[in-house]
Amino acid sequence: MASPGSSVFILCMFICSVSVIRSDFYNVACGRDNKVNYTSTSIYKRNLDTVQATLISAAKKSSSGFYNASVGEGLDQVNALVYCRRDVQPDICRSCVKDSMNKLRELCPSTKEADIWYDECILRYSNASIFNKVETWPTVYWQLQNNVTDVIQFNKNLRDLLDKLKGRVAQEKFATGNVTAEDVFSTLNHEYFFSTIYGLMQCSPDLSLKQCTNCIDQLEVFLQSCCSGKIRGHITNPSCDIRYETYRFYNETLVNAPPPQSQLPLKPPLVPPPAAGKDDSNKRMVLIIVVVIVGFVILLFVMVCVVKRRREQRTYIGRSRNDDDDVVDISTIESLRYDFSTIQAATNSFSDSNKLGEGGFGSVYKGAFQDSKEIAVKRLSRGSNQGQKEFINEVILVAKLQHRNLVKLVGFCFEGSERLLIYEFMPNASLDYFIFDMMKRSYLDWERRYKIISGVARGILYLHEDSRLRIIHRDLKASNVLLDADMNPKIADFGIARLFDLNETQAMTNKIVGTYGYMAPEYAMYGQFSVKSDVFSFGVLVLEILSGKKNHNFRNGGNVEELASFAWKNWREGTLSNVIDPILKNSSGSIHEMIRCIHIGLLCVQEKVTDRPTMASVVLMLNSFSHSLAVPSKPAFLMHSSSDTENNSRNSTENSVQYSIDEASITDLYPR
Ligand SMILES: *[C@@H]1O[C@H](CO)[C@@H](O)[C@H](O)[C@H]1NC(C)=O
Ligand SMILES: *[C@@H]1O[C@H](CO)[C@@H](O)[C@H](O)[C@H]1NC(C)=O
Ligand SMILES: *[C@@H]1O[C@H](CO)[C@@H](O)[C@H](O)[C@H]1NC(C)=O
Ligand SMILES: *[C@@H]1O[C@H](CO)[C@@H](O)[C@H](O)[C@H]1NC(C)=O
Ligand SMILES: *[C@@H]1O[C@H](CO)[C@@H](O)[C@H](O)[C@H]1NC(C)=O
Ligand SMILES: *[C@@H]1O[C@H](CO)[C@@H](O)[C@H](O)[C@H]1NC(C)=O
Repeated sequence: MASPGSSVFILCMFICSVSVIRSDFYNVACGRDNKVNYTSTSIYKRNLDTVQATLISAAKKSSSGFYNASVGEGLDQVNALVYCRRDVQPDICRSCVKDSMNKLRELCPSTKEADIWYDECILRYSNASIFNKVETWPTVYWQLQNNVTDVIQFNKNLRDLLDKLKGRVAQEKFATGNVTAEDVFSTLNHEYFFSTIYGLMQCSPDLSLKQCTNCIDQLEVFLQSCCSGKIRGHITNPSCDIRYETYRFYNETLVNAPPPQSQLPLKPPLVPPPAAGKDDSNKRMVLIIVVVIVGFVILLFVMVCVVKRRREQRTYIGRSRNDDDDVVDISTIESLRYDFSTIQAATNSFSDSNKLGEGGFGSVYKGAFQDSKEIAVKRLSRGSNQGQKEFINEVILVAKLQHRNLVKLVGFCFEGSERLLIYEFMPNASLDYFIFDMMKRSYLDWERRYKIISGVARGILYLHEDSRLRIIHRDLKASNVLLDADMNPKIADFGIARLFDLNETQAMTNKIVGTYGYMAPEYAMYGQFSVKSDVFSFGVLVLEILSGKKNHNFRNGGNVEELASFAWKNWREGTLSNVIDPILKNSSGSIHEMIRCIHIGLLCVQEKVTDRPTMASVVLMLNSFSHSLAVPSKPAFLMHSSSDTENNSRNSTENSVQYSIDEASITDLYPR
């Protein structure tokens, strides 16, 4: 339940309904209080149809990110404009223009005036003129109830950030930036640390610089009353937008990129102008030969360029995004590199008694250095054909990923055919060890389970958004969530897919790495992976944590059924408490919170990739128990291979699988 303070209350007098309907659009307003309607046979509707088509085709043609249209005369005139957040990629902007137009027509089927806000774009239409005007109605805001510990310091830092951004937005109508602000905020007895506040300001591109500053100033007043000391604030009206978060929510690469160029100038032709002179047939012959040769050379040149560019693109996708990531300091390498003999000694020659487990990537051994520091060593199976340099580069990149919910990579070893990864040792083994065990499960009360769920969410969010590389885990599961001495979750095996040189292009891979039961259907069937396939696995994990049962060989009475579909059926029947682990139900802890977590889990396992929330929204949903949640659609039902292979003992059930899918079927599935 939201508990609005008096300032929020006062705001509500100015501000229309704050309704979060779906995670993909923030808010919609169908006209003002006195709604003016059009009929389905009116000229206004025809004009609106034309406007819709015009905007969508304008967005296809140009990547400027701002599109407007004006169709008709007098009372039937339709004026529309749509603009994207400037850091949004052109193709995403394009689809936002299209979706927002369709959605707005659907949600406001008959009002002459309507506005819709998406994360990526804002669309408005009206019979009144809307261009070059500041529109402050409606003003809407979102905040999180989570308070920082040091409100005064936080607000001071935020003030610095806003001032910095205002300076820039007054020149460019768009600004992003960050300030350092080390603080802690708490949610339900858990504390989270953050070190940076990220902010963004933007104005509708048709406004003048002065109008832009005015608009931002007005919003800022509201921001102070709604969001003081909150870890998130977002306030917007149709003409401008201010937002801050404690994670990076904008695309820094695109923010810093130069504005899109319309067209590269064509190079002048290399063919020399024909010499005007006598009509000599010999000369003409020579000219033809020259033209042919020059033509051939140009063709060759173009081909070389194309091939080279393809190759560059490929390495670009497979490798780091930032150039400076590739510059690896030799001292970094040496601090991370270990001799094979050292590790051999530490693990008692990889003896079976030291073996902790086995997965698709290789076996894991426990070890201890001379100074008795304990380690876990992953001995990669020999599937990789990567060279030493590439391997070391990847290890260093992965070693740079540091987050309290990721297992720390201590070092590596590359000698002959041996590739070892050395991690900090986690005394409490992995989550599956607890959660699927009748006795040990009771140790995980609601508070601990909640801590695990939100910790894992933050770890994945870091991999997806905050680290400089976008890492898709691809094999998230209970056995890859390790627990430290205080039962804090730490994700293991992240970035490992990168070490295997999986020949990935266009986020498609011909080698599927993952674990049955956790794999998103589009990944399991077509090898398409994305951040949303990790979201799917996370959803499965949440359902497992709440129910204490495995998704894969979950049994409901005598029936073999997917846990996700069981949960969904119960959700529809309003009997979600059937899904909750009985041990949990009897412990102290809010059933309401547990049900909410199952709800979040169900949103993550939805069949349609675009319906699944991003990890950032999952973290938000987990943080704020007042945020209303979308209605989940049907979860993906994965085909069961057969139940007889699943009844084996524990050690054989959870192994990752790697298999190849038919090359031909992949090429068919390439976009374009
Ligand atoms: C316009 O239509 C909406 C429902 O779509 C209705 O609530 C409203 O009263 C209508 N306004 C007028 C002026 O007819
Ligand atoms: C779009 O807006 C600009 C001013 O921002 C205006 O000059 C132009 O005419 C508009 N285009 C249409 C199609 O209305
Ligand atoms: C918009 O339409 C309504 C109803 O048709 C009309 O009263 C109003 O004056 C129009 N506004 C403009 C600016 O044309
Ligand atoms: C934050 O502070 C406000 C008012 O000071 C209070 O109503 C709210 O419950 C607090 N939120 C949390 C999560 O502690
Ligand atoms: C903060 O912004 C600067 C650019 O102004 C950037 O170089 C830096 O990496 C950002 N810091 C974080 C933590 O994102
Ligand atoms: C940011 O933009 C770049 C350039 O278009 C793109 O390659 C990258 O994937 C984007 N990053 C995110 C997090 O969307």
